[in-house]
Amino acid sequence: MDLQNKIVLTGVKPTGTLHIGNYVGALKPAIELGHEVLANGGKHVMFIADYHAVNYLKNPEEMQQFTRQIACAYLACGVNPDQTIFYRQSDVPEVFEMTTLLTNFTPKGFMNKAHAYKAAVDKNVAKGEPADAGINMGLYNYPILMAADILTYGSDYVPVGKDQVQHVEITADIAGAVNACYGKQVLKIPQAITQEFAAVLPGIDGRKMSKSYNNVIPLFGSAEEIKKAVMSIKTDSQDINAPKNPEEILLFQIARGFCAPELVQEIEEGLKKGGMGYGTIKKMLAEAIATELGPIHDKYVDYMAHYNKVEEMLREGAQKARVLARPVLDNFKATVLNQK
Ligand code: TRP
Repeated sequence: MDLQNKIVLTGVKPTGTLHIGNYVGALKPAIELGHEVLANGGKHVMFIADYHAVNYLKNPEEMQQFTRQIACAYLACGVNPDQTIFYRQSDVPEVFEMTTLLTNFTPKGFMNKAHAYKAAVDKNVAKGEPADAGINMGLYNYPILMAADILTYGSDYVPVGKDQVQHVEITADIAGAVNACYGKQVLKIPQAITQEFAAVLPGIDGRKMSKSYNNVIPLFGSAEEIKKAVMSIKTDSQDINAPKNPEEILLFQIARGFCAPELVQEIEEGLKKGGMGYGTIKKMLAEAIATELGPIHDKYVDYMAHYNKVEEMLREGAQKARVLARPVLDNFKATVLNQK
């Protein structure tokens, strides 16, 4: 992928308690890609999608807490706000002006087919309730707001998990419709990047690691909490000396998702040969996690304790984001309204 002078945009929703699955599958790869695009003369734009959360999160304290946590988590994991344009979606009014314009180029049928809305409708229908029961327009229009996030900055690439690819495709379609309407490129057509962002770390019970399954290894837990979670990873009762197929062993899958290649290899060989016990591997994994996350944890605690500084960073980030957004919106407005 050619990142030369490109704009990479990452959006993250404020959600509660982060786990190492988020770290391996989202935070770390997003930050690494950011560093890569910056090294190639491009721009890295990263924001907390707080307006996107309003459709399901109406508790202001939680909203504040989740937003703070995610901001501090990304900073602790290595986002440098002097290089990355790092801000809160709600601080950039251009995005919402963009949203209003974009609605006029978005076929309603697109929204009917968007996954999140369709899933909510299917759930209602299965329960014998009216199709749109409990569904607000924030959920329905979610993809248009996301399109505005992406198009307002002229993004080239949008790293996302598999579940968000459809939204980026809808965004590309909307931008295409605008360009076709006026017979010129008004908005840049973005592309989703998925490869490494699709990594899914299993939880300690073997299902996908998820807060709702209560099977997570916490990202910012104490060393004790992390150890306790690692020690509870489900194992089988094979003899310690029996040669094992690592692919069939949950503990190995989690270790492979988290640990450095040399350690992964050591564990893999130990399992294949036999003789390396699950308890030993758990200790190795807990240690590897503690070594990598310890410093991140300390930084996180420090950012949370001095949140006013983070707030300032986000506000400064929003100013930079607005500088990027303004000409794109102005050009779009001028095109639509024939305004000079
Ligand atoms: N919808 C994304 C998610 O659920 C978050 C998001 C909002 C986003 N706006 C975005 C992601 C723009 C990428 C680009 O994870």
